[in-house]
Amino acid sequence: MQALFGLEGKRILVLGGGQGMGEATVRQIAALGAHVAVVDREIERAESVTASVLASGGKAAAFSFDVLDDDALVAGIAEVERDFGPLDGMATVIGMAAWGSLLEIDMATWDLDQSRNLRYFFLAAREVARSMMARKAPGSIVCVSSVDGMRSAPNHGSYGAAKAGLVNLVRTMAAEWSPYGIRANVVAPGPIITPRIPHRGDTEERAMMVNVPMHRRGTVQDIANAITFFLSDLSGYVTGQTLAVDGGSLATSPFFHLADGHAPT
Ligand SMILES: NC(=O)c1ccc[n+]([C@@H]2O[C@H](COP(=O)([O-])OP(=O)(O)OC[C@H]3O[C@@H](n4cnc5c(N)ncnc54)[C@H](O)[C@@H]3O)[C@@H](O)[C@H]2O)c1
Repeated sequence: MQALFGLEGKRILVLGGGQGMGEATVRQIAALGAHVAVVDREIERAESVTASVLASGGKAAAFSFDVLDDDALVAGIAEVERDFGPLDGMATVIGMAAWGSLLEIDMATWDLDQSRNLRYFFLAAREVARSMMARKAPGSIVCVSSVDGMRSAPNHGSYGAAKAGLVNLVRTMAAEWSPYGIRANVVAPGPIITPRIPHRGDTEERAMMVNVPMHRRGTVQDIANAITFFLSDLSGYVTGQTLAVDGGSLATSPFFHLADGHAPT
């Protein structure tokens, strides 16, 4: 079964691999035989995940740089390729949202949301793609958007616009980079339980789940599964796509209320 994924011996860079969705991705692809370069701004996180992969017989190495620093990002990817080896794939989970209505948001916050969700991904993906092209090596690139990038995002306007940018950017990458054998795809999570936004089980969280057809938040493993699909040979003819992993959230209609007798008892 492992051969189906085609990840055995592939060198994959995971940006933000020290925690949550990134950590789950590192563990999963390492278990499928990938050699994983784990990057995190918090070096202890990258080292701890790497140590646990090595302890379970996998192959990984820890690196630390800040993806929001252009020079550090370019130098960091070069360091990974020099010390770890040429990359066959890259996944990133790094991203964060500012809170505030469109009327409130200041331009520094707007710029920060573009940088930490969209801008760094463009630079990182282009560096990795250039290296693959120079080696005439195929590859797969995956980023994490959000359902906020696929519909309106009240109080997340700058984040939603940046996440929507990812959805469009991978289409252009698909159009321009397919001739080189490089695929690019997006995973768009709905509400996911993460170390930063843990499960609460309170009234507010339950109320939020009313309009999620599956009536629960997803897990970091759900996201790792989708990222693994895009990194693997299982998606060999798929590029420029966005896969929502959202318990059906985007499939709902404003004219159909799940709470009106359709929720499971
Ligand atoms: N949790 C949700 O419900 C949800 C919903 C939709 C989308 N998302 C998206 O999921 C992604 C992952 O979110 P998360 O909360 O699991 O991630 P996170 O904030 O826990 O970050 C993962 C890792 O990335 C590292 N990191 C952060 N900034 C970095 C930087 N500048 N340079 C290097 N490393 C850095 C962190 O140290 C952390 O270990 C984000 O892109 C987020 O927008 C989350």
